[in-house]
Amino acid sequence: MSPGVPRLHPITVVRGENEFLYDAGGNVFIDFTSGIGVTNLGHVHPELVEAAIEQLKKLWHICIHIADYPPYTELASRLSREIPISGEKLAAFFNSGAEAVENAAKMARQVSDKPYIISFIGGFHGRTLFALAMTGKYKPYKIGFEPLPSNVVRVPYPYCYRLPVRSEEECTQLVVGIVEQVLTVDLSPDVTAAIIVEPIQGEGGFIVPPRDFLSELERLTKRNNVYLIVDEIQTGYCRTGRFMAFEHFGVDPDMVALGKAIANGLPLSAVVGRKEILGKVKPGSIGGTYGGNPVAAAVALKVLEIIKRDNLCRRAEYLGKIVAEHLEELRNKYSVIGQHRGLGVMRAIELVKNLQTKEPANTLTDRIIKEARKRGLLLLKAGYYSNVIRLHPPLTISEESLLKGLSILDEAIKAVL
Ligand SMILES: Cc1ncc(COP(=O)(O)O)c(C=O)c1O
Repeated sequence: MSPGVPRLHPITVVRGENEFLYDAGGNVFIDFTSGIGVTNLGHVHPELVEAAIEQLKKLWHICIHIADYPPYTELASRLSREIPISGEKLAAFFNSGAEAVENAAKMARQVSDKPYIISFIGGFHGRTLFALAMTGKYKPYKIGFEPLPSNVVRVPYPYCYRLPVRSEEECTQLVVGIVEQVLTVDLSPDVTAAIIVEPIQGEGGFIVPPRDFLSELERLTKRNNVYLIVDEIQTGYCRTGRFMAFEHFGVDPDMVALGKAIANGLPLSAVVGRKEILGKVKPGSIGGTYGGNPVAAAVALKVLEIIKRDNLCRRAEYLGKIVAEHLEELRNKYSVIGQHRGLGVMRAIELVKNLQTKEPANTLTDRIIKEARKRGLLLLKAGYYSNVIRLHPPLTISEESLLKGLSILDEAIKAVL
C-alpha cells in the first residue's frame, strides 16, 4: 500500500454489524467513526443488503450516458423533492464527494459564465485537484501537488473560538465583513460564480458557525448575484438532527453537494440544485462512467426510506443531547478540553495545552485515540491543528453502546493525563 493513503488505526477490520467492528484478531470495537460519517445506518444494514442484492440481480451497470434506469431517475426525483431548496430542482450523480463538489463548482462557472469561486480557510472539499484548490488546509493535502486550478480565493470561516471576538454576533460581523470585502474589492461580483461553504466544518473540527452566519452569507450572495453552494457531504443525512444541516440556519442555497451517507457506504455522490442552474449545463459536459451506479442508487433510495420511517433525524437529535451532556461533564472534569461543540450527534472536543492560550494539544489527541482503541472504541481526529476528537457514531447505535463509548473516551483521557 502506498504510504500516501493514511490509516489512523493499525487494525484489520474483517466484519461490521451496526455499531460494531470486528478485527482479524477477534477484537470487537464500538465504531465512533462510521467510516468518516458515512455509515449513518450502521454497518451491513440488513435492508440495505437486501436492496443491493435485488438490484444486483436486475442490473448492476449500464452507464447513464448510454440509457437511463429506474434507480437513477427515481433517486433524482426523490432527492429533488426532499432537499429543501425552494422552487424546481434537478440532480446529477457522481462517485465521490470530491467529484460532487467539483461538478457543483464547474456548473456554477459554466452557467454564470464567471470564473471565480470563494471557499473557506479550514474547509475540506476533497482530494482531486479542483476540490483541493477549494480546500483550505495546506498540509497534508496539497504538499507537492501544485499547481492547482486557479481562480479560487479563500476567506476565513467563523471559527469563533479562535478569533478575537467576544460574541457570536461579532464573529459573524467580522467574517461576513471580510467575505464582502474579498467579493467586492479583491474580486468583483462580475467575476465570482459561487461561494462554497460547509454548514459545519467537518475535517476542520466540527466548527459550528454562529446562528446567523449562513443567512448573512446567503444575503451577501443574493445581493451580488453569486451562487451559494452548500457542501453537505459530511453534515447531511440527519447527522446534525436535520436532514440537511443548512436547515438549522434557515437558508435557501442554490446547490448542495451530497456524498458519504447518501448510500451508506456504496460509492455515490450528488449535486442537487436549482433548475435554473442545472437545467442550463451544456449537454455532455458533466457525468462519468459510474456516476449514479444502479446498485448504489437502489441502496440510496432505501436509505431515504429508512431514514424517514425510523425517524433518524429525531434520533440523531436525541442521541446528540446525551453526547453533549457527557462532553460537558468531561470539559468540567479535564482542563485539556478547551471546547466541546456540535449539532445533533455530530460532536467533538477540542484539546488544548492551556485554556487561556488555547495552544493545540495534538500529541495528547493522538494518545487519547490510541488509549480508546485499546479499550475497544474507534475515534477520529480532525481540526485545523489536528487537536480535535470528533464523534461520528451511526444514528442506529444503541444507547447502551453510545454510553459505553463515551465512558471509554473518559477513561482514555484519564489514562493519558
Ligand atoms: C465536507 C466534505 N466535502 C467533500 C469531501 C470529499 O469527499 P470524498 O472523500 O468522498 O471525495 C469530504 C470528505 O471528507 C467532506 O467532509
